Amino acid sequence: MISKMNQEIPRIALVTGGNRGIGREIARQLALKGLQVLIGCRDEDKGRHAVEEMRQEGLAVELQVVDVNDPESVSRMTERVKQQYGRLDILVNNAGIIRDYGVSVLDVKESVIKETFETNYFGVLRMIQAVVPLMKEHQYGRIVNLSSGLGAFEILEGLLGLKGSSSAYRISKTMVNALTCLAAQDVAGTGIKVNAVCPGRVQTDMGREAASQAAAEGLPALLTVAEGADTAVWLATLDEEGPSGGFFRERKPVAW
Ligand SMILES: NC(=O)c1ccc[n+]([C@@H]2O[C@H](COP(=O)([O-])OP(=O)(O)OC[C@H]3O[C@@H](n4cnc5c(N)ncnc54)[C@H](OP(=O)(O)O)[C@@H]3O)[C@@H](O)[C@H]2O)c1
Repeated sequence: MISKMNQEIPRIALVTGGNRGIGREIARQLALKGLQVLIGCRDEDKGRHAVEEMRQEGLAVELQVVDVNDPESVSRMTERVKQQYGRLDILVNNAGIIRDYGVSVLDVKESVIKETFETNYFGVLRMIQAVVPLMKEHQYGRIVNLSSGLGAFEILEGLLGLKGSSSAYRISKTMVNALTCLAAQDVAGTGIKVNAVCPGRVQTDMGREAASQAAAEGLPALLTVAEGADTAVWLATLDEEGPSGGFFRERKPVAW
């Protein structure tokens, strides 16, 4: 909450890909904490459906149509938020895709790599570039990038028992990690914090697809969306003393 002329104003949070999976649960948990949550969704109908369902739970959520692949869509959304709310306090860069699970780096198509980087890296970069000026105006911002342990160099060295390295997805998350470090440095001293999170292996459309292909490997059970969202929500609501430029899982720092 922000105190302004004896009034308590809720902080405004935007979650990209907030219509399903981990993003929807992050949005839900932020709304339960009393924040005004903007559900970022690239498809208006799907977004409206998600918003209606969440409002039935009594949550303060609004739709913001945004396709992170489309620079025009990102700048239209930023302008609308500026006009309607005058501020954006929290950005959760959750939207992501995987198109090459288990495919070898020797076989992955260039088009698949480009498609994956477009959403997972350029989408995150675009959103950060669009909202940081608005955050700077209010000297407050919390940016959380949904990364993955699969993008960490420590894990890139092993094959995780998969036939192929899923390189397009994994390298896109390595890029997100690098971007997190650099963006955090470039906003230092402005009241904005930028962190990356690995949610763990979570029961979502993406997580289940990966799990069904890896079931034979005897990997541990998938986390619930509530468990997967927890660290992102914590990072989105860090106080002034909280970290910036870090990579976290289960609220603890992990190796890049
Ligand atoms: N699930 C896991 O185990 C796991 C593990 C590590 C990291 N992660 C990361 O966590 C994040 C969320 O994953 P998830 O499992 O919840 O995935 P998911 O169930 O597949 O949901 C992905 C979300 O991203 C949205 N999206 C995709 N491309 C978009 C675009 N161009 N513009 C706007 N929205 C877009 C989707 O929208 P539509 O509904 O329109 O498709 C959907 O809302 C991703 O960044 C993922 O890489 C997940």
